[in-house]
Formats: sequence, C-alpha cells, structure tokens
Amino acid sequence: MADNRTFTMIKPEAAEKGLIGAILDRIEKGGFRIVAMKKTQLSKKEAGTFYAVHKERPFYGELVDYMSSGPIVAAILEKDNAVVDFRTLIGATDPSEAAEGTIRKDFAESKAKNAVHGSDSDENAEIEGNFFFSTREKL
Ligand code: CMP
Repeated sequence: MADNRTFTMIKPEAAEKGLIGAILDRIEKGGFRIVAMKKTQLSKKEAGTFYAVHKERPFYGELVDYMSSGPIVAAILEKDNAVVDFRTLIGATDPSEAAEGTIRKDFAESKAKNAVHGSDSDENAEIEGNFFFSTREKL
C-alpha cells in the first residue's frame, strides 16, 4: 500500500451500537477516501493473527476475544499523510485521554472497546490492508 493509505476497523461495540454510519461520516468529512470496505466477523484465530504484534501483552487474550465477538467494518483509507492524520482524527487509545472532537472521545467506551482501530505505521497499514483485501478490491 502506498504511503498515503491507512487501514481501519470499526470495532464490534461501535458496529453493534449503530455507529457505523456516524463514524464513516467523520472519516469522509475528515478528508479520507474509502478505497475498500467490508463488514465481516473475525474468527478467534484471525483476530489472533491480526493482533499477533501484541501477543506478549497482558491484554492480548481479551483483545482477541473482543475483536472476534461480533461484526466489524474493515476499510482502507486514502489521504495525504494518512496514517498520522487518521490517528489524529480518532484520538488517543484510551478515550478518557482522547482530544475533544475525536472519534474515540465521542464514540468509544474504554481502552479495549475504543470504537476504531487505526494503523500505527505505513508498513503496518499495508500488512493490515492486505489481511482483509485482495488487489482487485482496492479501488
Ligand atoms: P488498536 O488500535 O486496535 O490496537 C491494539 C488494541 O489493543 C488497542 O487499539 C486497544 O483497543 C487494545 N488495548 C491497548 N491497551 C489495552 C489495555 N490496557 N487493555 C485492553 N485493551 C488494550
């Protein structure tokens, strides 16, 4: 994936609460183009693979259980400086520390149920996007 792309997931609790449309609206109004998008549910095994980088962290088991607990929306997004600008749009991992007007400040419940995922580097954006989408789906 090019440096102007990032990857996001709308997490199970946000999808369950009917926030998919509101979050996509923030994303598009934030200047991001939706390159590819799908609603799907991760198996435990898939969630474990996706978050393998966190395997040694104490919250890994909880994270895998939660991320496979219900449908999510996965998307590749495009904008200049996409990774950094998207992390600004969503706010800090812990919603109690997220800036006013950010997606997590307005929609997240907790550090674990924090509404959205955003890639932390160009390299991970490419890996994560490729986990969900084939070349022909990236329009
Ligand atoms: P995300 O951007 O999806 O990347 C890793 C996720 O791990 C992160 O968002 C959080 O939802 C989750 N996470 C990070 N720290 C904790 C924690 N202390 N307890 C539970 N989940 C956490």
